[in-house]
Amino acid sequence: MLKEVIATRYITPLREGGSLPGLVEADDLGTYVMKFTGAGQGRKTLVAEVVCGELARRLGFRVPRLVTIGLDPVLGLGEPDQQVQELLRSSGGSNLGMDFLSGALGFDSLAFSVSPEEAGRILWFDALVNNVDRSWRNPNLLMWQGEVWLIDHGATMIWHHNWPGAETSAARPYDATDHALAPFAPDVAAAAAALAPLVTEELLAEVTAEIPDVWLTDEPGFETPDDLRRAYARPLVARAASVHDSVQGIEGTR
Ligand SMILES: Nc1ncnc2c1ncn2[C@@H]1O[C@H](COP(=O)(O)OP(=O)(O)OP(=O)(O)O)[C@@H](O)[C@H]1O
Ligand SMILES: [Mg+2]
Repeated sequence: MLKEVIATRYITPLREGGSLPGLVEADDLGTYVMKFTGAGQGRKTLVAEVVCGELARRLGFRVPRLVTIGLDPVLGLGEPDQQVQELLRSSGGSNLGMDFLSGALGFDSLAFSVSPEEAGRILWFDALVNNVDRSWRNPNLLMWQGEVWLIDHGATMIWHHNWPGAETSAARPYDATDHALAPFAPDVAAAAAALAPLVTEELLAEVTAEIPDVWLTDEPGFETPDDLRRAYARPLVARAASVHDSVQGIEGTR
């Protein structure tokens, strides 16, 4: 399970984020970007952040450390912004936090360069988890201390919105036409050769064990949180070996 901290102060909303993530201080004196269970798509977005973030980390990508943040809705009472107040009020209990990378810059393909090797690794990973939110319009990559960091994995694994159709949905190709790193000659084949063998049932068991039980209860068709954990693992293990063949929209990969 992820480390748990308790929110002690709401600092400010991060206005760029569609889901209105906020900056908070916690009882360990850390500063975290907090994503709320009460926001838009709710807890499935947070589960996706945990599965993809913790998988990416174990595959060697740089991802801010994830924690769960306990929130007492009382913290919202003094908030002047009504939207923020409602978000805090509806998000009591466990929320997601990630280390705030102070001073990080948003990735800009005109200002930064990425090697074909690194572009290939990131693009392959995005194909694996079906990330539709790493486009040149909204790369969800940060430059921090001279390196690329991966954030925002909420819009991935579309199949978890319809479990009965998950197998069919997970078999669909990945369209990389608009991917933020498509212009960097991504070597997807090399990434697949290096990373696919690492995506095993054992690794996914470790990754899905990080998801808090409270975000896995009451899912129709699943009796226990562990049943649902296995459902998250299955399409990823199944896709790993061949997903590079289904990447569309970048030259030289087919
Ligand atoms: N760990 C972090 N450290 C520093 N800045 C961050 C971090 N996480 C997010 N941000 C900043 O906050 C913005 C919004 O975060 P994020 O993309 O995760 O939220 P979101 O609501 O899912 O956004 P959207 O759906 O609009 O892409 C990021 O674009 C980035 O500028
Ligand atoms: Mg984002």
